[in-house]
Amino acid sequence: MKQIKIGLLGMGNIGTGAYKTLEMNKARIAANTGLDLTITRILEKDLARERDVTVVPEQFTQEADDILAAPDIDIVIELLGGLEPATSFMLTAMQNGKHVVTANKAAVAASYDKLLNTARANRVMFRFEASVGGGIPILNALTTALSANEYEEIRGILNGTTNYILTQMAENGLSYDRALKAAQEQGFAEADPTADVEGHDVANKLSILISLAFGKRVPPENIPTVGITGLTMRDIEKAAADGGKLKLIALARRKGDDIEYSVAPTFVANDHPLAGVRNEFNAIFVRGNAVGELMFYGKGAGPLPTGSAVMGDVTEIARAIAR
Ligand code: HSE
Repeated sequence: MKQIKIGLLGMGNIGTGAYKTLEMNKARIAANTGLDLTITRILEKDLARERDVTVVPEQFTQEADDILAAPDIDIVIELLGGLEPATSFMLTAMQNGKHVVTANKAAVAASYDKLLNTARANRVMFRFEASVGGGIPILNALTTALSANEYEEIRGILNGTTNYILTQMAENGLSYDRALKAAQEQGFAEADPTADVEGHDVANKLSILISLAFGKRVPPENIPTVGITGLTMRDIEKAAADGGKLKLIALARRKGDDIEYSVAPTFVANDHPLAGVRNEFNAIFVRGNAVGELMFYGKGAGPLPTGSAVMGDVTEIARAIAR
């Protein structure tokens, strides 16, 4: 059986989730694809962390070039998070002829053109399904099954941490601080949760969606963005009394020849499907001029849902390599 060798950059929450997804489903992936996908090398400093996977110490390295410049590695998975060194590592991997998969929405949103152009120039594949909506295959859907549409609107809940906090405050009366702590303990939040609660994580994701759906590059810093830190329990109770919920909503829609976009806490009436999206779940409404309205729903954060999206990209690339 043909072996596809994979190098993993970063084995924190999401790296462990990707590794575990492959460990759980390696035999099934092999049966489906005829390929043996193996993570052979891992860039990670924290060797002591309890990970509940069968990684052996020899797989770990402290030198990025052991992966980025290794002749035997076919695919590099970048799960370090943050802009640097993640972006430079992805560019170097591509320049060295390696296909790249990432979940790093901040890096993809910040350097979208550079990453895609570098992949094209080096004739490698670059995929980032896990960067938006965790386990929901929204990028795939927009760029394949729905690609015969002109998109009119995208509206969604794109951050698991803030949706978890708002749900716990509304349903269980948890304080903001306790709800945030619980989201961090479950591995939903970013290392620095400021990006989650101030809405920047959603702006990164919306910037990526706008690029793919509307073919327009809007840097995340140009998207008007309000997070949830200004909301109080009183605001949440008032929304409930008015028959709805407060949700952090990302919106992009056509307006004449232009597009309008924003990220902001928004009142959603209880009879709207987005009101039923609870905890770390995400949902994305899409309106296309042929298909009409669609809604995608699933876990938007967490190691295994995100690991599922990462390994889906890896599997697609592996199939293409084999072809
Ligand atoms: N911190 C992010 C969230 C992780 O809570 O949605 C998934 O992108």
